[in-house]
Amino acid sequence: MRALVMIEPSDGPDRTQVDKVDEPVPGPGQLTVEVAHAGINFIDVMARRGDPGYASGWPYVPGLEVAGTVRSLGAGNTGFSVGQPVAAFTRGGGLAEVAVAESALVVPLPGGVSTAVASAAPLMLSTALLLLTDIGRFRPGDTVLMHSASGGVGGAVARFVPALGGGRRIGVVGRPDKVDAARAAGWDTVLVRGPELAGAVRSAARDGVDLVLDPSGTTMLDVDLAVAAPTGRIVLFGNAGGGTPEPLPPAGRLIGGNLAIGGFSMSSLTAAAPASAADALRRVLDLVADRALDVEVTEIDSLDGVAAVHQRLAEGQGSGKYVVSVAA
Ligand SMILES: NC(=O)c1ccc[n+]([C@@H]2O[C@H](COP(=O)([O-])OP(=O)(O)OC[C@H]3O[C@@H](n4cnc5c(N)ncnc54)[C@H](OP(=O)(O)O)[C@@H]3O)[C@@H](O)[C@H]2O)c1
Repeated sequence: MRALVMIEPSDGPDRTQVDKVDEPVPGPGQLTVEVAHAGINFIDVMARRGDPGYASGWPYVPGLEVAGTVRSLGAGNTGFSVGQPVAAFTRGGGLAEVAVAESALVVPLPGGVSTAVASAAPLMLSTALLLLTDIGRFRPGDTVLMHSASGGVGGAVARFVPALGGGRRIGVVGRPDKVDAARAAGWDTVLVRGPELAGAVRSAARDGVDLVLDPSGTTMLDVDLAVAAPTGRIVLFGNAGGGTPEPLPPAGRLIGGNLAIGGFSMSSLTAAAPASAADALRRVLDLVADRALDVEVTEIDSLDGVAAVHQRLAEGQGSGKYVVSVAA
């Protein structure tokens, strides 16, 4: 089968190629998916550049979310049937014609949901939902501030806020040429990252921000703390720049500020609590099927185009969510 193979760590697309590799065989409790579409994520880039904990080894086939049909079932796997349309979390290996998944992390596709949109659901949409709800404790009317607002997860959060009852959405982007994309994604106010950011957020949200969603490690944490309202929540869910995050602020600052700092990792959740991850996937697919959530994706027409998309993401030039059509 064809798969996207990262040969060794690299900052560029030069060590990524589409190769013929052996098709995976499902073990007990696993199944394989004939991949129709696979999601492309910034986390693939973190694996490519060799950030610790992202690639399981080299060469590495990236890809953490797929949609397609069940191709084969591992021993003792009775919950699915061959040919059934599904979406699945994968532990790498999703950017391939066939991907293996734990059946606990596979969800049947509801009618009316395309595989292109469904392939953005396991990692991107489920992360956006859990950031806002289970971790971020979003309440209708809250003011939400999000860094990297014009990207995949950023655009999904902007669309979830109205679906969850509505609130004020303030998006932050890294460059002025991303402002329009963030506005189009639904952010009410869009600010550009820079030394004046905290002041600009305070001007836009005089009562402070109720929920901050931050994938930038701890590099923006001082801003997050400066703009959070009393009883505000700050959720750290990535480390886009790489490097070692700084220690969190002393307890006194959180106690005195009536603030909570939390963290989120979907890959840890799929390992530690697969039922919670699968439940989130089921919820987002149902929202899409019920047309309560409108999702836009940019479709790449073959695995051959993925390395260039990874490079766009690595250079901070991506816009919205990319998925790839894998089916031969
Ligand atoms: N915790 C989880 O389970 C989980 C799940 C999915 C995604 N994530 C994280 O969520 C973030 C968004 O993911 P995505 O796939 O939707 O990506 P994306 O937002 O479409 O693209 C990544 C964005 O990160 C920002 N960025 C900040 N520092 C960067 C750097 N040093 N190099 C390149 N880009 C940098 C850029 O936007 P700006 O310059 O505009 O900020 C860039 O566009 C990523 O950081 C990812 O790791 C976490």
